[in-house]
Amino acid sequence: MKRLFAASLLVPALLVPALLVPAAGALATPADAVKSRITSLRELGAAFKAINDGLKADEPQTILIQQSARQVRNAANQMPGWFPAGSGPEAGVKTSAKPEIWSQPAKFKAAVAAFTTEAGKFQAVAASGNPAAMKAAARSLGMTCKGCHDSFRVPGN
Ligand code: HEC
Repeated sequence: MKRLFAASLLVPALLVPALLVPAAGALATPADAVKSRITSLRELGAAFKAINDGLKADEPQTILIQQSARQVRNAANQMPGWFPAGSGPEAGVKTSAKPEIWSQPAKFKAAVAAFTTEAGKFQAVAASGNPAAMKAAARSLGMTCKGCHDSFRVPGN
C-alpha cells in the first residue's frame, strides 16, 4: 500500500515537468537565444581585444595570444548555432541582429565562413609566434568582424 501510494505520487511528478518543459522552452527560446548569443559575442570581443592588446605590448604576449586565438576559433566554429530562426528583432527582444541574417542566409553564411577562415589562419600564425605575421593576420581577422557587422548588425547599439 505504502509503495503504491509512493508510486502514484511519483507518476504525476515525472509527468508534469515532461509536459511543462517543452511549452515553457518554446516560449523562452528567442530571449534565451539572444541572451546566450550576446554573451558569446562579448566573450569573442574580449578574446579579440586580448589578441590586440597582446600584440601592442613591447614583448608580444604569445601564450595569451595563442589562447585567445583558440577561443576565437572555437567561437567561429560555434557561430552558426548562435542565430536560430526566430531570434531576430521579430521576437520582440532587444537585439542588434538584423533581419537580413535570416532573409539573406547565403550572404550571412559567407560572412561566417570568411570569419572562420581568418580565425583558422590567425590560429596557425599565432602558433608560429611571429609578431609581424600575427599583426597582419589579426588585421585580416578584424576585417571579417567588421564585414559581418556592417551588413548584419544594427550600428550604434
Ligand atoms: C557573421 C557575422 C558576425 C561576425 C563574423 C562577427 N560578428 Fe560580432 N555581432 C554580429 C551580430 C549580428 C551582432 C549583434 C547580435 C545581437 O545583438 O543579437 C554582433 C555583436 C557583437 C558584439 C556586441 C555584443 C553586445 O554586447 O551586444 C561584439 C562585442 C562583437 N559582435 C564582437 C565581434 C568580434 C570581435 C568579431 C570578430 C573577431 C565578431 N564580432 C564577428 C555578427 C557577427
